[in-house]
Amino acid sequence: MHSLKSKVDEAASAIRVRFGDFKADTGLILGSGLGPLADRLDGRQAVETASIPHWPESTVAGHSGRLVCGRMGSVPVFVLQGRVHYYEGYTMDQVTFCVRVLGRLGVKRLIVTNAAGGLNPEFSAGDLMLITDHINLMGTNPLIGYFDPEADTRFPDMSAPYDPELRDLAVVTAKALKITLRQGVLAVTTGPSYETASEVRMLQILGGDAVCMSTVPEVIVAVQMGMHVLGISCITNPATGLGSRPLSHLEVKETAGRIQETFVGLLTGIVGRMGAGAD
Ligand code: HPA
Repeated sequence: MHSLKSKVDEAASAIRVRFGDFKADTGLILGSGLGPLADRLDGRQAVETASIPHWPESTVAGHSGRLVCGRMGSVPVFVLQGRVHYYEGYTMDQVTFCVRVLGRLGVKRLIVTNAAGGLNPEFSAGDLMLITDHINLMGTNPLIGYFDPEADTRFPDMSAPYDPELRDLAVVTAKALKITLRQGVLAVTTGPSYETASEVRMLQILGGDAVCMSTVPEVIVAVQMGMHVLGISCITNPATGLGSRPLSHLEVKETAGRIQETFVGLLTGIVGRMGAGAD
């Protein structure tokens, strides 16, 4: 039996062998539709996640699993295209495996993106939302169980899971690029069914501005590992009951595709500025 720690070590070692002496302290986990960002990296190298030991393989069409490394401008990054979701039947350890491996590879700054339904009535499909905080309604937590007392805190603080400095950087970058960047609280449910209209009203009352089925587990693990996290959602649709038609994955993908260039531009700008103000 492999412990989670040894699986993470084996996966990280296999990636190191593939990518040679490449090093990066910035990682991006991209939601569907942001593939071009990874395709445009300078000095790009890619590995199919299926070939990495212990890596859970995605079952959702359009979520190709690939880990890419290269430079965005002058900044070396790891980019993960295609996460796996809890609703696919994976355990939380599997859903967050990528974060633990990125951490093992030296990532200290993690950018996460996703598609989300808009709960805030002021949001429109195609808006980008800087995640300011989250509400975990998955009914579980990725930190349950596995715990490495030498490396981790059992009870991580969650008062600022989304790094205030990185949030400021995102706001300044969006302004400079004339991209409208909303801000709000991301609620997460397991999915895969979309919310009912009543659930959407509940999520609004609870303080959510957008709702998704991913990202939050990865962020919780990243925070436990001491990473600085930036999260941006693409509001692909008004949540159930707030729009005029039933929801479909097709609509989600279409909006994500429409906004892709803007989203890639914003992320490129943010990472570029990280390089400029290197810590
Ligand atoms: N709800 C949950 N997850 C989503 C949605 C939604 O409306 N749109 C995209 N991901």
